[in-house]
Amino acid sequence: MKKLTLLGDLTPAQFLRDYWHKKPLLIRQAIPNFNPLLSREDFFSLAANDEVESRLVTHFDRRWSLEHGPFSELPSLAKKNWTLLVQGVNLHVEAADKLMRQFSFIPEARLDDLMISYATDRGGVGPHFDSYDVFLLQAYGKRQWRIGAQQDLTLKDGMPLKILKHFTPEKEFVLEPGDMLYLPPQYAHDGIALGECMTYSVGFRAPSYQEIGEAFLQFMAESIELPGRYADPDLAYSTHPAEISKAMLDRVQKQLQKIAFTREDITIFLGEYLSEPKPNIFFDAPSPALSFSRFTIKAKKLGIALDAKTRMLHRGKRIFINGESFDVDRKDRQALVDLANDRQLFSKQIVTASQDVLEAFYEWYRAGWLAVSE
Ligand code: SIN
Ligand code: CO
Repeated sequence: MKKLTLLGDLTPAQFLRDYWHKKPLLIRQAIPNFNPLLSREDFFSLAANDEVESRLVTHFDRRWSLEHGPFSELPSLAKKNWTLLVQGVNLHVEAADKLMRQFSFIPEARLDDLMISYATDRGGVGPHFDSYDVFLLQAYGKRQWRIGAQQDLTLKDGMPLKILKHFTPEKEFVLEPGDMLYLPPQYAHDGIALGECMTYSVGFRAPSYQEIGEAFLQFMAESIELPGRYADPDLAYSTHPAEISKAMLDRVQKQLQKIAFTREDITIFLGEYLSEPKPNIFFDAPSPALSFSRFTIKAKKLGIALDAKTRMLHRGKRIFINGESFDVDRKDRQALVDLANDRQLFSKQIVTASQDVLEAFYEWYRAGWLAVSE
């Protein structure tokens, strides 16, 4: 792939300081001479796969409609006003994963996926806003974007998709292949295909605090320990047998107040939560699998690489991978931290790895979470 100048003249630090979450940025030729990563036909076959999340949005006769894939059939290419969107293309197409990793100036824990949309002339998803930041890279053909910083984000009622009731665009651009538009969360936008076009969106993860709180309480439910059982040796006679007594309430309150959580609990929860693959993700285990000794010989010679579907994070001495986590010794930490950050390890980094680390790599290889490098 060509050297990327993704942010134009800006350094990642300047971009984060001046634009991230703040204002839109148009970067002409963010990737000069960009060539689409997959053909229209390959893209349509992805949308026909039932392990892939896809949507079809049509705007025929001025009526919006939304259908979920997989799609074995699509409207005619000659028909205007439809768009096909495929989520998580990075999980299935290696080049898309590589492209998304160019955005690693944003932490892995915030990166979501690379979505691709294909549209026939005039196709789009209508004026709307998203709850997360997005980089919109024009991959093929032209798309007109109209954008606005409006406060009124009221949506039209009774629509199958989010359409703004009052869209008041302030700026307008036509993006050509290689051009990229960054939009902060809640920024109103509408992209309309000018002829057949394809757009790649790099989207970010921004879970709601409610979602995080609910997931945390589920995590805590598995780790709390409250020994003992309710007992009331001092039970007093009451003329209201249906009433929950003050004594009972006091006792239960005293026990529940013992539930506490530490920063370490939050660390473990957050890492496991953020590294958990989405529910529709399945790993392909190697078949036949190499024996442990063959695997180690090959890995020491060729290196290893994480599968595109693997999410690996770290914090302090804790390593998180695909929803699981463990603490590591000082001596083993570096190899695992390097694997998480670089998503691959070279031969020389594996030659020095301990038996424990090699065993972990082998287990992950057997699960399809990593592979020996080609
Ligand atoms: C699209 O690619 O058609 C829609 C992307 C977006 O507006 O978020
Ligand atoms: Co959008």
